[in-house]
Amino acid sequence: MKGPLNRKAVAAVAVVLSLAVLPAAWAGGPDRRYDPGTMTLRELTFGNLRDGYKIFRESCKSCHHRGNAAGARFLYTESKTMRGWNRVFYERRARCDRDGAWKGLSADDLLKLNDYLFHSASDAQDVSCFV
Ligand code: HEC
Repeated sequence: MKGPLNRKAVAAVAVVLSLAVLPAAWAGGPDRRYDPGTMTLRELTFGNLRDGYKIFRESCKSCHHRGNAAGARFLYTESKTMRGWNRVFYERRARCDRDGAWKGLSADDLLKLNDYLFHSASDAQDVSCFV
C-alpha cells in the first residue's frame, strides 16, 4: 500500500514544481513585440512562438543550415538582435526573399516567424518587455 501512495505524492510534488517553474522559464524573454509593418503591438503567445519555430525549421533552415549547398549563410535566432530581425521582415531585402523563397508563406506566417526570431534574438535573454 505504501508504494502507490508514495508515487501519488511524488506526482503531486512534480505537478506543483512544474507549475512554479514554467512561468519563470517563460519570463526569460520579451513578451511583446512592436511590429513596424502592421504598426501593432503583438503578444508573444506560446502558440505563435511554436508556429514560428516550425516555420523557421521548415522554410528557412532548409537552406540556412551549416554546410548547405544553397550558398546561404548559417542562420539561427541569435544571428541577429531583436531590432535586426524586425528589420529583416520590415525591409524585405534578403536575397532569398527577392528570389521567391518566401512566397509560400502568408503574411500571418511571417508575423509569427518574426515573433519567434525576435523572442530568441541575441539580445533578448534578459528582456521581459520590449516595445
Ligand atoms: C532556397 C534557399 C533559401 C531559403 C528557403 C531561405 N533562404 Fe535566406 N538566403 C538564401 C541565400 C542563398 C541568401 C544569400 C546568402 C546569404 O546572405 O546568406 C540568403 C540570405 C538571407 C538573409 C540575408 C543574410 C543576413 O545574414 O542578413 C536573411 C536575413 C535570410 N536569408 C533569411 C531567411 C529567412 C527568414 C528564411 C525563411 C523565411 C529564408 N532566408 C529562407 C537562401 C535561402
